[in-house]
Amino acid sequence: MGAGQHELRYDIGGGFAVALCDGEGPGLAERLRDAIGGRRALLCTTPTVARLYADMLARLSSALAGPSELVVLRVGETDKHIESVIGLCAQAQRFGIGRRDVMVAIGGGVCSDIVRVASGLIRRGIPHICVPTTLIGQIDAGIGIKGGVNFNGAKSYLGVFHAPEAAMVDPRFLATLPLPAWRDGIAEAIKLACIADAGLFARIEAMGPTLPSPEEQSNGDCTALVRRSIEITLAELALDPLERGTLCRLLDFGHSFSPAIETASEHRISHGQAVGIDMCVSAEIAVALGRLADAEAGRIVAAIAGAGLPADCAELTPALMRRSIDAVVKHRAGKANLVIPVAVGACDFIREAATLSDAVMGEALAALRRRSAGLAQAQTRYEARS
Ligand SMILES: NC(=O)c1ccc[n+]([C@@H]2O[C@H](COP(=O)([O-])OP(=O)(O)OC[C@H]3O[C@@H](n4cnc5c(N)ncnc54)[C@H](O)[C@@H]3O)[C@@H](O)[C@H]2O)c1
Repeated sequence: MGAGQHELRYDIGGGFAVALCDGEGPGLAERLRDAIGGRRALLCTTPTVARLYADMLARLSSALAGPSELVVLRVGETDKHIESVIGLCAQAQRFGIGRRDVMVAIGGGVCSDIVRVASGLIRRGIPHICVPTTLIGQIDAGIGIKGGVNFNGAKSYLGVFHAPEAAMVDPRFLATLPLPAWRDGIAEAIKLACIADAGLFARIEAMGPTLPSPEEQSNGDCTALVRRSIEITLAELALDPLERGTLCRLLDFGHSFSPAIETASEHRISHGQAVGIDMCVSAEIAVALGRLADAEAGRIVAAIAGAGLPADCAELTPALMRRSIDAVVKHRAGKANLVIPVAVGACDFIREAATLSDAVMGEALAALRRRSAGLAQAQTRYEARS
C-alpha cells in the first residue's frame, strides 16, 4: 500500500485506490465522472441517501458521458439476503450492463455488500466502484474486498471476494448520519485503534460521552479519524487479502461473537453495537487469561460505553459464546484465532479453542456484567449530579 495525500493505494490483484475527497483534491463528482468514463453505469443507492442527496445524484447522472440508471435498494439488515442480490442482478440485466460496464454503490455497508456480491456474480465479475456514505462504509465495508449476504440465519454466509475498481470516500456524507449509524462506525474505529493505534484510541476516548453534532462530524477532526482508520484497515487487509494464510486477522477483533449476537437479536442489535459488545467480552477473556491488565480492559469497556454503545446484552450467554467459538473454528480452519487485546493499541490471538474453556468464558462474562453494571451506576450518578 502506498499513500499520497488524497489517495491510498491498496495493492491486491493489480490494486485499487481509495480516494479521500477531503475538499482539497478533485471532488467526488469529478472523480466519479472520470472513473466511469463513457461506460454504462448502474448507480445503486438507498432510500435515505437518494432523498438526502437527490441533487448530487441528479448532477452526477447528467455529468456522466455514458448512459446511467439509478436503483434504490432496500437496505435494512434483514434485506441483506440473496434475493436482494438476484433482484439487483435482474435490474442490471434489464439495463443492459456489459462486461466492462460498472455498478456504483453509493450508501452504507448493506448497500456495498449487496452491490459487491451482485457485481461479483454477474458474468463472474464486472467492475464496481464504492462511494461509502456511512462511517462503517468509509473505514471498513466500502474499502475492502469482501461482500456478503445473510443466509438461513447465518450472518454473511454467502459472499465473494471482489475488489472494487476504486473507492471514493467523502467524509462530508457523515454530516447527515443519524447518531446510531455514527456510533456503529465509532465501534469499528475503536476496533482499529485497539489493534494498531493507542493515539487514535485516546482521541476517541477524549470525544467523551457526548458525540460530535452532525455538523461537527464533518470537520477536520472527523476527516483525520477517517483517514487514520482507512490506513489501518488497508495495511491489515494487505497482509492477506484473500485470507489464504493463517486466518489470523487482527481485523477480526470484535467479529467472533458479534455475528451470533446480531442473529440472536434478530438484528435489533446492529453490527456496530454487536462488534462493541464482542470487543468488551474479548477484553475480559484476555484479563481472565492473564494477558491484559484489568485497567486496560476497563478503558476499552469505558470507551465503548462512552461512545453510547452497549457493552453487554442479554443475548450474550455462555451458550452463545460456545456456539460462536465452534462456528469460528469451522470458519478459521480448525483454530479459534480469537483476537484479544494485550494492551490498548496491541492485540494478539488465542489460537486454540481448548484455551477458551467454559470456565474462562464464564469468568469473562461475569466480569463484564460487573464492570458494565458499575459503569451504568456511575453514569446514573453523573446524570443525577448534572
Ligand atoms: N463487507 C464487509 O467487509 C463489511 C465490513 C463491515 C460491515 N459490513 C456490513 O455493513 C453493514 C453495516 O453498514 P452500515 O453501518 O453502513 O449500515 P447500513 O448500510 O445499514 O446504513 C445505515 C442506514 O444509514 C443510511 N445512510 C447511509 N448513508 C447515510 C448518510 N450519509 N446520511 C444519512 N443516512 C445514511 C442508510 O440508508 C441506512 O438506512 C452490516 O450489514 C455489516 O455486516 C460489511
